[in-house]
Amino acid sequence: MSKKRIFSGVQPSAIPTIGNYIGAMKNFVALQDEYDCTYCIVNQHAITVPQDPKKLKEQTRSLAALYLAIGLDPEKSTIFVQSEVPAHAQAAWIVQCNVGVGELERMTQYKDKSQKQQSVSAGLLTYPPLMVADIVLYNAEVVPVGEDQKQHMELTRDFVERFNSRYGNGNKLLVMPEPFIPKAGARVMSLQTPTKKMSKSDANVKEYISMLDEPAVIRKKIKSAVTDSSGVIEFDPAEKPGVSNLLTIFSAFSGESIESLVARFKGVGYGQFKEELADAIIAVMEPIQERYYELLKSDKLDEILDEGAMKANYVANKTLRKMEKAVGLVR
Ligand code: TYM
Repeated sequence: MSKKRIFSGVQPSAIPTIGNYIGAMKNFVALQDEYDCTYCIVNQHAITVPQDPKKLKEQTRSLAALYLAIGLDPEKSTIFVQSEVPAHAQAAWIVQCNVGVGELERMTQYKDKSQKQQSVSAGLLTYPPLMVADIVLYNAEVVPVGEDQKQHMELTRDFVERFNSRYGNGNKLLVMPEPFIPKAGARVMSLQTPTKKMSKSDANVKEYISMLDEPAVIRKKIKSAVTDSSGVIEFDPAEKPGVSNLLTIFSAFSGESIESLVARFKGVGYGQFKEELADAIIAVMEPIQERYYELLKSDKLDEILDEGAMKANYVANKTLRKMEKAVGLVR
């Protein structure tokens, strides 16, 4: 039996955080043995909000190195940069012509992000159709993402249903994808405001831990993470959002269940708990960082991305052709 197909992506708008790692990237690695995986660096999504071109270029390379450093193996997974596969923008146009402006205006990420911008680009509104295009081009059946992408995944599923019924003549032209959202860690919260999501583009660096923060910085940020005055380590996201978030992070990095952590830290103060949490994060991140800096220096990265783009172009163009034919865009 052929392997199920997976597609996912991360924006190179900043260095990913431990939220991106726990919510999505860790699963990219876990799934690559069992599935046929394609992982993209979605740089075209990043320019929906203003970016410094030089930084964007650096961060694109940096994300590619991080993909490899966390354990993605180019022998098993296709790794490529979105802008190097023109079919994404071409398919996105067809998607845009088959979704309503109203559907896009209802996306909560659009509402949140547009509020933070002085002037809102049309691309910010049509961001989800580009994501839909990413997914359908690779016939993806499974899409590992964090919880914040749930609504975009619903839009993708609605689009596939609509496209197949409008243009399929009874055939399932495009594959229906399912999100893969982890049970724990699908929404890692900010360290300073544990009621809001941890985000790589937050202005205050104390809100998040970047995947490239040095061990001393990780320790400092965990030390200053907001908790509460009760001093009791319990998992209760409504009443104790700070401590609960730290427990989620601890569990994701150590593999120990939240129940077991709560039992082990019974009667122990927040100080000691935070020390051990920082140790657990550093134990995972330090070797990733070492591999990352090695990879950045080598020529391997460009070879892998060239090869990835070649493979991705082949698959994506086949689906694009099918979409264009269905819509009547070929002579
Ligand atoms: P991006 O770059 O914002 O985030 C990358 C992945 O990390 C997840 N994530 C989180 N998970 C847990 N806790 C958090 N605080 C947290 N913050 C982010 C995101 O859910 C995501 O899975 N639109 C996507 C990129 C994209 C994509 C795609 C994903 C473009 N095309 C096609 C899948 C398939 C995004 O903005 O991710």
